[in-house]
Amino acid sequence: MNVLLLGSGGREHALAWKLAQSPSIAQLYALPGNPGIADHAELVEGIALSAHDTLVTWCKKNGIELVVVGPEAPLVAGLVDRLAEAGIPAFGPTAAAARLEGSKLFTKELCRAHGIPTAAFARFTKPEAAWAHVTTEGAPIVIKADGLMAGKGVVVALTVEEAIAAIDQVFAGGGQEVLIEEFMEGEEASLFCLVDGETVIPFGSAQDHKRAFDGDLGPNTGGMGAYSPAPVLTAELEARAIAEIVVPTARAMVAEGSPYRGILYAGLMLTQSGPKLVEYNCRFGDPECQVLMPRLESDLLALLNAAAHGELAGAAPQWSPKSAITVVYASRGYPGPHQTGSEIRGIEDAEKEEGVIVFQAGTKRSGAKIVSNGGRVLNVTAVGDTLREARDRAYRAATRIDWPDGFYRNDIGWRALD
Ligand code: AMP
Ligand code: GLY
Repeated sequence: MNVLLLGSGGREHALAWKLAQSPSIAQLYALPGNPGIADHAELVEGIALSAHDTLVTWCKKNGIELVVVGPEAPLVAGLVDRLAEAGIPAFGPTAAAARLEGSKLFTKELCRAHGIPTAAFARFTKPEAAWAHVTTEGAPIVIKADGLMAGKGVVVALTVEEAIAAIDQVFAGGGQEVLIEEFMEGEEASLFCLVDGETVIPFGSAQDHKRAFDGDLGPNTGGMGAYSPAPVLTAELEARAIAEIVVPTARAMVAEGSPYRGILYAGLMLTQSGPKLVEYNCRFGDPECQVLMPRLESDLLALLNAAAHGELAGAAPQWSPKSAITVVYASRGYPGPHQTGSEIRGIEDAEKEEGVIVFQAGTKRSGAKIVSNGGRVLNVTAVGDTLREARDRAYRAATRIDWPDGFYRNDIGWRALD
């Protein structure tokens, strides 16, 4: 098959690495890709992911039989709908189904209507009413803005004053409505499922570290590391989350007339009273995907293609019992202002460490050199018989990389290892 992969991060490098191993691959293309992805795919240049018509024309000209969409923005913007009109199969939800990520309000109302466990919530279009609500409820309490906010639309307020400031910020930033949620206590875990209509196939679990610095301190980031499987998500809790959260969601989306197709990433809070939904994402996690792919023993292309064609029923992905971990090597200063363009040496050297793959996230080529080109730059990934072994391998590999402008956390996996 001729396949086009969209995106340019570590997630897409992991997908490209795995897709390229498929016996059914004829030609793998990536748009825009990165230097790591270029080892597995032919890079397509000069088309923006938002240029849907140009993309369709390019796919037709190049005989593309499946488009795999990495990031959420093109999904929410309706790229899969546009490809479907043109008769080009794609892995990923339609815009209507991608509302599960694109609109927190849509998802909360869906949960309420279908009795899906999630934090209790209230919504307000006027700041005064929202202030009164947080004053009555007290803190901690969670304030959210609607829409795709790249993880920045959420404030877990520890005091009522903080909650009021967060409410004001939503409205000052042009928000029309604020969502206020009950604070859920517990450990968080991510559950991935391949979904096609009412068919739900579990597709691995992971946990990530969102804070920039050791000890889970510092500012929130897109994720500084992850590991899979998530030991806290026991088989029993996973079965409950699928039965009580994911399956009812898939059914509700079918009933809505917006059947979901693609990967559904459920962010869960494992509370005293069982798993509850924090949020959905309509794509693979980044960096969670980087720890799922090295553990997947089945043909990824066959699974994604089956989902795209509504033929997922009966699929049984096989997983290695090994653990995987990824350590994000980021530019100094990330998630704040940081420099780019500095040389990175030693990637091949790091990969000599047993069980290690370095996925590239924010890199570019400058002549013969690889240079940094973003906030999260490398994902030093390792598998091992145990999480401890995987962790030790990843950190040994990380020390073999020579990049003075980068930093990483030294405690990825601590929750599962302590
Ligand atoms: P979200 O963007 O909705 O995933 O929220 C980002 C982070 O905020 C989550 O990963 C949680 O750590 C935290 N969070 C969001 N909603 C809640 C909630 N209702 N209770 C506790 N923590 C929450
Ligand atoms: N690592 C969190 C995310 O992909 O949303």
